[in-house]
Amino acid sequence: MTFKKTAGILTGAALGCAATAASAQSVEVLHWWTAGGEAAALNVLKEDLASKDIDWQDMPVAGGAGEAASTALKARVTAGNPPTAAQLLGMQVREWAEAGALGDLTSVAEEESWGDVVPAAVQEFATHDGAWVAAPVNIHRPNWLWINAKIFEEQGLEPPTTWEEFNAAATQLQEAGITPLAHGGQPWQDTTVFDDVVLGIGGPDFYRSAIIEGDPEALSSETMVQVFDQMRTLRGFVDENFSGRDWNLATAMLLNGEAAMQLMGDWAKGEIVRADMVPGEDILCVPAPGTDGAYLFNTDFFALFDVSEDNRETQQELARSVMSPEFQKEFNLVKGSIPARTDIPGDDFDACAQTAMEDIAEAQENDALLGSLAHGHAQTSAVQRAIFDVVTEHFNSDMSSEDAVEELQIAVESAQM
Ligand code: GAL
Repeated sequence: MTFKKTAGILTGAALGCAATAASAQSVEVLHWWTAGGEAAALNVLKEDLASKDIDWQDMPVAGGAGEAASTALKARVTAGNPPTAAQLLGMQVREWAEAGALGDLTSVAEEESWGDVVPAAVQEFATHDGAWVAAPVNIHRPNWLWINAKIFEEQGLEPPTTWEEFNAAATQLQEAGITPLAHGGQPWQDTTVFDDVVLGIGGPDFYRSAIIEGDPEALSSETMVQVFDQMRTLRGFVDENFSGRDWNLATAMLLNGEAAMQLMGDWAKGEIVRADMVPGEDILCVPAPGTDGAYLFNTDFFALFDVSEDNRETQQELARSVMSPEFQKEFNLVKGSIPARTDIPGDDFDACAQTAMEDIAEAQENDALLGSLAHGHAQTSAVQRAIFDVVTEHFNSDMSSEDAVEELQIAVESAQM
């Protein structure tokens, strides 16, 4: 370890000279970015670190939205063998910070004025007790509806703006023999859709009280019954092989015309771009029905574990890299998200990202910028998991909406205890 650190300093001093020594510093990073677009985005970070002579030890744990990664991370930390750094969603940052497991990034954050450029909603998750404990790499928007433009044109359809319009378009598509909705039946994907329906039917204030505050009255309301009714209707619009399908395979159905629409976060754009299709032209992006003006968000953070003296310098360099304006731009162009810094011009971004940048500013003004439940920015892991269970059980059975609402309220209540 001592050798590594000494060599690291030497290499740092020699930066700018031709690569002479083998990489002296290294970071082991646990993450779940294994789909095509995700891996391509991660490569931008790996290359950035390589240019600083920091060696990347990959610890990928496949599984969308990081459910499996979270389990793997817990096992590593519990065993006393944490990775150098890990990708985390907002609530996970909070929970690990409360457990005292994260390194302090405040000195780097202050040196580089992160507080001036990171939106308040993101800072809320990146800081704990006044200290910076995670570096935000992006802002994703999970409430997008992606549309195969060619299919819609052939069918003479317009992008739906309400759930009624969505249902009418989907029925027409189904009658024409086209799968209306590309979907993968996994709890986090079911709940990504559920979040959209709650927001679309209930509006921002309802989403806030039911999902973020877990208010029993909102959870057991007539509006929530309507939400589950719509979930049942959506179940009729997916193909019969949806169960267990990974999100990127569902996106592939949208891209190759096997399905007409997908309700998914803008990581889907990573797949669109990789397929040489143009977001906003070949694949349209519109807010999920009824959610125009509101913005669900989730941010991927990198937080530092294993904060021994030996690692410190390298870790801080990782945080610096993640937050540099150049990196934030290059990374997010590939990932499909928008930068977590507000000072990056949108000129080089695609039409959907530019819309996202405008929409997030508008939502922020209207108190309609809301953390995503499915993507770890609304509830503790325990409550999130409890809601996942009810949503998925309802989606995969003939449970009535009334029963689902009752189960939801009980599940949230017991998970809060
Ligand atoms: C989200 C994460 C994104 C994307 C997606 C699918 O939770 O924030 O970066 O990777 O899961 O895996």
